Amino acid sequence: MIVLGIETSCDDTGIALLKDGRELLANLLSSQVSIHSVFGGVVPELAARKHLATLLPLLHEALEKSGVSLEDIDCIGVTNRPGLVPSLLVGLTFAKGLAYALGRPFIAVNHLEAHTFAIFLEREVEFPFVSLVVSGGHTSLFFVEDYGKMQFLGGTLDDAAGEAFDKVAKLLNLGYPGGPIIDKLARKGDPNAIAFPVAKTPGYSFSFSGVKTAVMSWLKKHKDYKVEDVAASFQEAVIKALVAKTFKAAEYKKVKNIVVSGGVACNSRLRELFTKRAEEEGYRVYFPSPKFCTDNGAMVAFVAYYRFLKGERAYFDVDVASRV
Ligand code: KG4
Ligand code: ZN
Repeated sequence: MIVLGIETSCDDTGIALLKDGRELLANLLSSQVSIHSVFGGVVPELAARKHLATLLPLLHEALEKSGVSLEDIDCIGVTNRPGLVPSLLVGLTFAKGLAYALGRPFIAVNHLEAHTFAIFLEREVEFPFVSLVVSGGHTSLFFVEDYGKMQFLGGTLDDAAGEAFDKVAKLLNLGYPGGPIIDKLARKGDPNAIAFPVAKTPGYSFSFSGVKTAVMSWLKKHKDYKVEDVAASFQEAVIKALVAKTFKAAEYKKVKNIVVSGGVACNSRLRELFTKRAEEEGYRVYFPSPKFCTDNGAMVAFVAYYRFLKGERAYFDVDVASRV
């Protein structure tokens, strides 16, 4: 059975062909970084227009590379929430058109569920587990009991962690997206050079707009500094907050397995600190490979696959949503 996965929730166009939920026949990604980097962030209308221009050629490329024809596709999975509405609309409308023309079912996929289950493209994780999805648009904790059975525990009250990385990189004139640049610079800096505070939030929620403002105020007051130290100290503050809340959630839910996904899960210090704490306290922490951490069509295809097997089908009146 072949599932086509379509991802257009933000600024990456992802197309994947997944066979029997296991074998990735194609997983193509078209990045829009060069379009949005001049603005220091994603411009929704430009993102949508680019998805529109990219989807069909990318699908043709995926079919050609994998030797699959349109008629071989059994089901279409598409992200319809949460994300940028103009971007989501392009992907969903494309999927509906294709499903109608081919006479195949389509399934509307939650982007956070897709990030959570991306790890299954590479390995199984025993249920139940706690999932942290940490990206440019989201910082959310879930308790996951089974395929598609996720309980929201808490999320960011303001900026997502990746958004904070991108905004701090902008303050430091480092370029966009900021996460990978800060990650690299921070390796040469002292994580304890500056004590940037992260706001204390209730339960399993997060807040990262304060730490960004703290960096901004600090930069106004200081002229002589090592940018590597600022990067490392900011990164340390954000990651420590992510580690603390995730382990608190795992403790509360009495689970030993933790999955961390989303673009920020590529971060080398994040992987180091999560792994260290897990080893110290007897937990197992799983990270998808970087290509499955950032947005991609394969994770969408995987969720559509198991939802299809459960008998789920979307109706043609299904809409997009900016939030879940
Ligand atoms: O999952 P993703 O591709 O898109 C969203 O759903 O948002 O995540 C993109 C985010 C950006 O904010 C980017 O700066 C961040 O992930 N990111 C990183 C790293 N690589 C990507 N943040 C910190 N360290 C990294 N190595
Ligand atoms: Zn994402």
